[in-house]
Amino acid sequence: MAHLAINGGPKTITEPIGSAWPVWDDTERRMLMEVLESGKWWRGGYDDPAQSKVGQFETAFAHFQDAKHGVAVANGTVAIECALKAVGVEAGDEVIVPASTFVASATAPIQVGAVPIFVDIDPRNYTIDPVAAEAAITSRTRAIVAVDYGGMPCDMDALLDLQRRTGVQIVSDCAHSHGSQWKGVGTGAIGPIGTFSFQAFKQLPTGEGGMVLTNDDAIAERAYSYHHIGRIRGRPFYEHHVPASNLRMTEWQGAIGLAQLSRLPEQTKIRERNAMYLAKGLEEIDGVAPIFRDPRVTRWGFYMWHFKFQSDAFGGISRRAFLRALNAEGVQGGTGHTEPLYHNPVFANWQENFGRTGFPIRNPYSDTDVDYRRMECPEAERIYRDEAVVLSHRLFLGPQSDMDRILEAIRKIRAHVDEVPQGEVTAGAGRSR
Ligand SMILES: Cc1ncc(COP(=O)(O)O)c(C=O)c1O
Repeated sequence: MAHLAINGGPKTITEPIGSAWPVWDDTERRMLMEVLESGKWWRGGYDDPAQSKVGQFETAFAHFQDAKHGVAVANGTVAIECALKAVGVEAGDEVIVPASTFVASATAPIQVGAVPIFVDIDPRNYTIDPVAAEAAITSRTRAIVAVDYGGMPCDMDALLDLQRRTGVQIVSDCAHSHGSQWKGVGTGAIGPIGTFSFQAFKQLPTGEGGMVLTNDDAIAERAYSYHHIGRIRGRPFYEHHVPASNLRMTEWQGAIGLAQLSRLPEQTKIRERNAMYLAKGLEEIDGVAPIFRDPRVTRWGFYMWHFKFQSDAFGGISRRAFLRALNAEGVQGGTGHTEPLYHNPVFANWQENFGRTGFPIRNPYSDTDVDYRRMECPEAERIYRDEAVVLSHRLFLGPQSDMDRILEAIRKIRAHVDEVPQGEVTAGAGRSR
């Protein structure tokens, strides 16, 4: 008789675990109605934060993450573009980006005319390796996009030390780290600037949305200007001071953001508590291990929770085969977007995909000699191919017994590892985005 669900045996998890997503109730309904009935559907003309939902959301979210200023924007991609401009990235500059992240961390630099340079990740927790980042710095490097991958804060001590020594600006991509803290300070408020995404799957969803956070008054004013077609606070409405786009968030998104933010502290606590319980359980099973949590991470608000699969200690089956068996048992796991970005067609085929001029890879401002087809980040490659397993944050929003069910599924596969069929699983299955 088959034991494993993948071979027709009984499934470990038969009822949904965690929470459906997004979570919402009458608070969202009421807030949206307030916007509707107010007739103020955009933020543009209301600089007093108290007068608009977006303004209130900026103040409240910045406060939650310990930042002085928040500039709400249309999504997390343009938030990075806005932040890069606000710290002075210009055409022809180089921007260092970790190899494993969502594509926006690397395409945002391109949108501001800069050249992304990929570097390897720290195998302990999949965030950018500060040593690899330093080794990639050239006279043209202007910024590092430090992605809090999955929600795990980067080593901000090492990165800010690098910034002090070299002047290269740390732009924190906190699209996954709502609620996380490094040494008691919220992500996005640790370095000069940080950006968030409020896309529908994120821990704080507004459908689409993003925010730029900073403690620096001058950077905040520049970000404000870049998100508002070059306007400057207090100046006439039709006076525009820098060439810039319209990145503003709508009042509808601001309303949903405020409502969602009211739940985020409690949800962050539940997720973290469950994750720590799961981590402890994984440590007791040969062949799986949680990623490293630095003791300086004082709060861990994650979007994707990673653990490591170690084939040698797990009966020699491949990570792909393990994922197939895990999904069959009812645990939706995947590889997320750990595949190194230089494999993605936009970079792998850059010579065809970057248009007639090849800008910004070919540009008149520098002699950058980049070819993404020659890049190789061995840790990122190995982690994507053999090791990473990704679970969505929403699986962690239920009772602790859900974690027991996940552990039970893994233990069961471990106990019957000889039955696991080797075979292909689609990369990115169970992806969170
Ligand atoms: C690491 C990272 N950065 C940036 C973004 C872009 O955010 P958005 O989808 O809101 O544009 C995402 C989106 O998932 C992301 O995962």
